Amino acid sequence: MAENDKKNSLPEGAATDFKDAMSYGDYLGLEQLLTCQEPRSEQHDEMLFIIIHQATELWLKLALHELNAAMMHIRSNDLPPAFKMLARVSRIQAQLIQSWGVLSTLTPADYMTFREVLGSASGFQSHQYRLIEFTLGNKNEAMLAPHRHDRAVHARLTAALEAPSLYEETICLLARRGLGIDTAQIKLDWSETHQPDDSVRSAWLSVYRDTEAHWDLYELAEKLVDLEDRFQQWRFQHMTTVARIIGDKRGTGGTSGVSYLRHPSTYDSSLSFGKYAPNYNYYPEKTSAGRQEMNGKMIEIAADDGGSFGAYVALPESGSGAGLILLQEIFGVNQNMREVADLFAEEGYVTIVPDLFWRIEPGVALGYSEDEFNKAIDLMGKFDVDQGIEDIGATLKALRAMEVCTGKAGCIGFCLGGKLAYLTAARKDIDVAVSFYGVGIEGLLGESGGITCPLQMHFAALDQYVPEPTVAQISDHFAGHADVDIYVYANVDHAFYNHSREASYNRPASMMAHSRTIAALHKVMGPHFNLEALWDDHLKFEFETRNTPDTLATMVGEPYVNHIPTMTGGTGFEELGRFYANHFIPQMPKDTHFVPISRTVGADRVVDEMIFCFTHDQEVDWMLPGVAPTGKQVEIPLIAVVNFRGGKLYNEHIYWDQASVLVQIGKLDPEGLPVAGVEIAKKVMDKTLPSNTLMARWAVSAPK
Ligand code: HEM
Repeated sequence: MAENDKKNSLPEGAATDFKDAMSYGDYLGLEQLLTCQEPRSEQHDEMLFIIIHQATELWLKLALHELNAAMMHIRSNDLPPAFKMLARVSRIQAQLIQSWGVLSTLTPADYMTFREVLGSASGFQSHQYRLIEFTLGNKNEAMLAPHRHDRAVHARLTAALEAPSLYEETICLLARRGLGIDTAQIKLDWSETHQPDDSVRSAWLSVYRDTEAHWDLYELAEKLVDLEDRFQQWRFQHMTTVARIIGDKRGTGGTSGVSYLRHPSTYDSSLSFGKYAPNYNYYPEKTSAGRQEMNGKMIEIAADDGGSFGAYVALPESGSGAGLILLQEIFGVNQNMREVADLFAEEGYVTIVPDLFWRIEPGVALGYSEDEFNKAIDLMGKFDVDQGIEDIGATLKALRAMEVCTGKAGCIGFCLGGKLAYLTAARKDIDVAVSFYGVGIEGLLGESGGITCPLQMHFAALDQYVPEPTVAQISDHFAGHADVDIYVYANVDHAFYNHSREASYNRPASMMAHSRTIAALHKVMGPHFNLEALWDDHLKFEFETRNTPDTLATMVGEPYVNHIPTMTGGTGFEELGRFYANHFIPQMPKDTHFVPISRTVGADRVVDEMIFCFTHDQEVDWMLPGVAPTGKQVEIPLIAVVNFRGGKLYNEHIYWDQASVLVQIGKLDPEGLPVAGVEIAKKVMDKTLPSNTLMARWAVSAPK
């Protein structure tokens, strides 16, 4: 066959006889579809206007089909098919956004040629568009009005208005996953647009803070964000297209036109998800090194004899407070000094760390390597102590002159700074001084007469720079001095308070010393916090209102909680938020209550002694992880040691006798073991109950 004939012939096997077979046109109903374009004017451009609307309606029809099916799958906890459908909706939206490009070829002049034939017809009356809005969560009963004339459409819209939206179906899923959704969120009437809710926020917080554990919910959330994002893009481009074509004229549907489309009530609230969805704010700010951002900044201080030097300043959250000067070790104003300054700012002080080596070399900030250590020793050798005290005096003046400083000011020094803190107390008008392992104080005891403020000194028993006889000499010197307190920490070395020096850092000793320091500062310059009220608020949010965000809001940025016997809790906002939202607050038996026995309030701690009572009617992750409910009553003495930083909770150590809990729920047989059940709670409340019942040898020591 000639090449030309091949080109002009039908492909082999192509069907041509449709007298008794279904054709493409039959299947798709093209006869109806393609006769639906009936321009009402003679104008060429009206065809574009009609087809773009009709094509949009077809895509909306498919989008609704997919959305309804996706919701059904979410309802039956079957997310993979839902993801596929939502991905398709997203591609449809991309298609619709693209279509504005075709419409942009219609000029205002073109549109004006046929506008009048539209009468009052407008996309405003698109019932499919309204269905999409209701389905995605933007509920508004008033929008049913234009559809009153069509009973079937009206009924469909009413049904969508009253049904849970895609977002609300998602919230129900979060509830089924045990993410602590408030029961009020699972409604009978869904016809109102979803309002922000703390339990939903904290559920998202859990999902976004541990995406691995909640991967499918995270994926779903991102799909919803994507959907809303594209939806807003479509709306925005519609609005700008309309503005281009009709300016500020009213719409054919009778509204104010562009200003209706631009109005926040129609624009912003198109979907409920984006407004309440998790966002970047849920992630704590980190530096690239993964460390919490420094809170302070550098300022310049004028020296009394001319020149100026730098100082790192960190402010408390409240913005103002008493002043505090931190006096450096021999390593300069390094990362550690700044972190300690941030810590004391968190405690409520306007904290400043002057660069005391500035006269030798400004800006020294050394680490602890051998080379850096040698350089630090060299700098210390060149340092003029008397000049340094004058620079501290200039710092004190500058600090008190700051608007944010409420007047009183103290100082805390470490190592070299420990000696300087002592000398500052002796020579300058400081309100309180704290010295950590100050080196060389023994040679300056002659100056002690100048000390008129409270002074606290912390020494390490193993410190080679301040050996035991030296500490004894200093202690003897100040014996009977009511305002000088000296503490020695057993089995710890020089620099035990420096958390950046692994070899010498000692956490228990540093926590003790920190508490004592805070007590000294509070006594002289405040701030005075009502720790009991703060703790009571925290308990209310945990046990009464059961609200994770409110609970976390009572805590510092990096809190930690440890339920000692089971090691449950969390370190840091992220882990603790996850723990509270999933394993603590929703895991509390309904009848949980406690009987307070005693409360001790210290400078930075509250210690609560109580009887904790509950019926084991649900799994209690934090106290009895992995133990199915036994229905047994439990009454257990419990101690909460609660540590505060500034006006916020920093950590909780919770202690109880786990053996007694296990005995009370029938999981541990006390026979032959030195443990007891509920008797231990009874005895705490009634001292007349017998002692020593577990101790058989008690009888042996009985008086004969
Ligand atoms: C020349 C092009 C267009 C113009 C001048 C225009 C104008 C308007 C105006 C002024 C409104 C506000 C209601 C009113 O008073 O009429 C509106 C609403 C609407 N239009 Fe368009 N439109 C155009 C194209 C389209 C297209 C192609 C679609 C696709 C279906 C569309 C869908 C809608 C929808 C869904 C609404 C309701 C929005 C809401 O209530 O938030 N429009 N349009």
